[in-house]
Amino acid sequence: MKLFIDSANVDEIREIAGWGVLSGVTTNPSLAAKEGRDFPTMLAEICGLVDGDVSAEVVATDRDGMLAEAEPLLAVADNVTIKLPLTSDGLAACRVLADRGVRTNVTLCFSTTQAILAASAGATYVSPFVGRVDDVANDGIALLEEICDVYAQAGYGTQVLAASLRHPQHVVQAAAAGADVATLPAKVFHQMVRHPLTDRGLEQFLADWAARTASA
Ligand code: E4P
Repeated sequence: MKLFIDSANVDEIREIAGWGVLSGVTTNPSLAAKEGRDFPTMLAEICGLVDGDVSAEVVATDRDGMLAEAEPLLAVADNVTIKLPLTSDGLAACRVLADRGVRTNVTLCFSTTQAILAASAGATYVSPFVGRVDDVANDGIALLEEICDVYAQAGYGTQVLAASLRHPQHVVQAAAAGADVATLPAKVFHQMVRHPLTDRGLEQFLADWAARTASA
């Protein structure tokens, strides 16, 4: 399973990219708006920080508007992936872009039926929102598992991108479910790397080494 960061913050993305673990980035209009910056400029900086796909979401809600918005985004960098909402217009735009060989991420997926439609429209990625399903007292991981199973059975080429992951255990569950990609906020990367036994073990190793050097 590849790891993407879910962020539009250049500093955060640079930091996690520096760990050597990132295969891509997802942004969304809420994350981009939070930065208060010119979107194409910010997108260009983000695209320069990773080799992999960077999802940039359209805000038009009609097919032609989405396609028109996609053009300047695609001009920003070769690794821009067009993120489209899972609506009938989003699917229609996805089909047009897929037929042109443009990479797409169909987002806001909350059901297996929607995921089947995204694959049928030629999406590169489909993004089930695990945490938001949990938020309404349903089981986001169960949804992800079902989508992964159905995709495997059907032999769809679309990659399952587990989104809206809120904590480290979600990441483990996404990998176990067979997701192709997990996108997570910087906070979850930090939660994943830290372990008190690593800190304590390192402290002990360094103390023992310092003592040996001192007595040598
Ligand atoms: C995915 O592409 C979305 O940007 C994201 O994962 C949404 O996460 P949230 O539900 O925590 O806002």
